[in-house]
Amino acid sequence: MKKKIIVALLLLSLGKMTYSQKYEHIADTPPMGWNSWNIFGCDINEQMIRDITDAMVTSGLKDAGYEYIIIDDCWHGERDSLGFIHSDPEKFPSGIKALADYIHSKGLKFGIYSDAGTETCAGRPGSRGYEYQDALQYAHWGVDYLKYDWCNTDNINPIGAYTTMRDALYKAGRPILFSMCEWGTARPWTWAQDIGHMWRTTGDIYLCWDCKHDHGGWFSWGVLQILDMQEGLREYAGPGHWNDPDMLEVGNGMSVNEDRAHFSMWAMLSAPLIAGNDLRNITQETIDILTNPEVIAVNQDKLGIQGLQYKKEKDLEIWFKPLTEDRWAVCFLNRGELPIELKFNWKENIVNDDFAQRQANFNTTTYKIRNVWTGKDSGTTEKNIKTKLAGHDVLMLTLTPKIKNQK
Ligand code: GLA
Repeated sequence: MKKKIIVALLLLSLGKMTYSQKYEHIADTPPMGWNSWNIFGCDINEQMIRDITDAMVTSGLKDAGYEYIIIDDCWHGERDSLGFIHSDPEKFPSGIKALADYIHSKGLKFGIYSDAGTETCAGRPGSRGYEYQDALQYAHWGVDYLKYDWCNTDNINPIGAYTTMRDALYKAGRPILFSMCEWGTARPWTWAQDIGHMWRTTGDIYLCWDCKHDHGGWFSWGVLQILDMQEGLREYAGPGHWNDPDMLEVGNGMSVNEDRAHFSMWAMLSAPLIAGNDLRNITQETIDILTNPEVIAVNQDKLGIQGLQYKKEKDLEIWFKPLTEDRWAVCFLNRGELPIELKFNWKENIVNDDFAQRQANFNTTTYKIRNVWTGKDSGTTEKNIKTKLAGHDVLMLTLTPKIKNQK
């Protein structure tokens, strides 16, 4: 019995040793970028990606902190006789290295997509059996980010498959952010902290506020459905390892309220902010949402603590997120279609965040309030909130401690 325990402990510690081989400090705050899938699907080509890269700069997204240009599924051509993967010669005639060089020349980083199975979800060559070779190829091309999907994986073990690619990337010698796209099926938040820098927590997002879309056997999910699936996951996220509730649908056709609320909640969740709209035809309204510096600052706060759902009353949800310097972000979300008369008495609410070991007690501390969407100061927590909150919209605030009240 004793022997068995010792062997088990030895194996565990060996396991831990390999788990340390992940690039550190490349995702200390949630990654920010753009990905081709949500708006373009398989319909991508090199000129379009170059134009999107230019638009990332001219629209102001780069200055706002967006860093990665990621091509999703369907960039692939065939493997050659030696097993090396090539890009689709018609869609990417100059090859991937030239594209990566172009993106780098604009001061941005480059991300690519593959799959742990034999084929990607769209039927292109997967990396199964080619992990080390593909990782070397990506490093040679100048890849900075790999999204690694989970289609056509038969019954392989997800921990093994993602660890193999993590180790292959590490051995390839170029820091590459590893984005795991396993859809949350095997609860990666419980085992992937040392494997990936982020992991999808759900199936794919769908362009709607509150719906699910049946693809015939599998579903994709609206903003509210995805939000609800984040329950219980906040303690698994932190600097270097983020819960990923999927890419943004901002600018793809929801109403401006819905886009604002979607973006706010992803900021509260410390989610990776990966835009998924056509940056070449972006409206000022969408730019204003995607580049709001105060909302982005909430998402990028150095503590890296995911927000806490503090209360839920019918259509109203109230979220608190601890920030550095004893500050908080607060988000009142109206899930419903009808406006709500929002009333909030700060002093009647003591927010205890056991996970972050933080408390917001408005009887002992007064906070200055800032409305992050209007960019205006908005009094203090001495005064109750009484306002109308439109349907599918948010009131998002930051709180900065002002005075410690005398007892
Ligand atoms: C899966 C992923 C999506 C996207 C597609 C590409 O559905 O979850 O994010 O990468 O594959 O085929």
